[in-house]
Amino acid sequence: MSADHLPIVRTVAELRTQVRAWRAAGQTVAMTPTMGALHEGHLSLVRLARTKADRVVASIFVNPAQFGPNEDFERYPRDEAGDARLLASAGCDLLYAPDVSQIYPPGYATKVSVSGVSEPLDGAARPGHFDGVATVVAKLLNQAQPDVAVFGEKDFQQLQLIRTLTRDLDIPVEIVGAPIARDADGLALSSRNAYLSAAERPVAGMMNKVLADAAARLVAGDSVEKVEATGRAALERHGFQRVDYFEVRQVEDLSPAGPPPYQGRVRIFAAAHLGKTRLIDNMAV
Ligand code: PAF
Repeated sequence: MSADHLPIVRTVAELRTQVRAWRAAGQTVAMTPTMGALHEGHLSLVRLARTKADRVVASIFVNPAQFGPNEDFERYPRDEAGDARLLASAGCDLLYAPDVSQIYPPGYATKVSVSGVSEPLDGAARPGHFDGVATVVAKLLNQAQPDVAVFGEKDFQQLQLIRTLTRDLDIPVEIVGAPIARDADGLALSSRNAYLSAAERPVAGMMNKVLADAAARLVAGDSVEKVEATGRAALERHGFQRVDYFEVRQVEDLSPAGPPPYQGRVRIFAAAHLGKTRLIDNMAV
């Protein structure tokens, strides 16, 4: 499909009309929710979605409810026309770019909150963030009613929260996690990488190396406490200004790692600030 012809719908009614037409033709539907400012990581989600269903709908909505008062909602990069071109090139069939009135109409009063998995790590560092994510994802899935929804493992805590949310609320969708897309030096692709200065960019790439080193140390027998302290210190030594966390957590519910063995059971999670940019990454052990 040519980029210029990627259909864009902005209301729930239009979205459902299209999805209903696909279903009437016997086709299955996959969804990739995003906040736009798309990069190769998002496109890998769309390409994975393509392999899971006959049709792919992507959404772009910069969700105010998941940004804290001092976070980057206003300056979050927005480029709908560029995003639409990229989506079409990756095989997307439809872009749902709702107006805020479709998500939070006047009188909107409901919040979805997932306990447990949403509490440590980014839940502690960004109060309210995961309520905003859970609420908007519940809405987007109910609006589009896809068979499959694809989310990136870069936001691994978000992915596990969405698995919990859809299970607990009986939302009939299969949640698929997609591997983290990385630059050549290992930096996890993120829309926020656009904030990095030329001097900060090589430092940012070190986060992945510190995580890989930590995973190797854990497998070699170092304790969780030692690996966490060493990782945190390494990030600071490389030039990260504030480390929000560097923690080993169980894969399923993000609870503390507990005793070994660790391989296949835990992941290591990092979040740190570099200038005006907050970077997160994680690695399987
Ligand atoms: O990962 C994102 O881009 C967002 O958190 C999501 C899942 C689209 C919800 O706004």
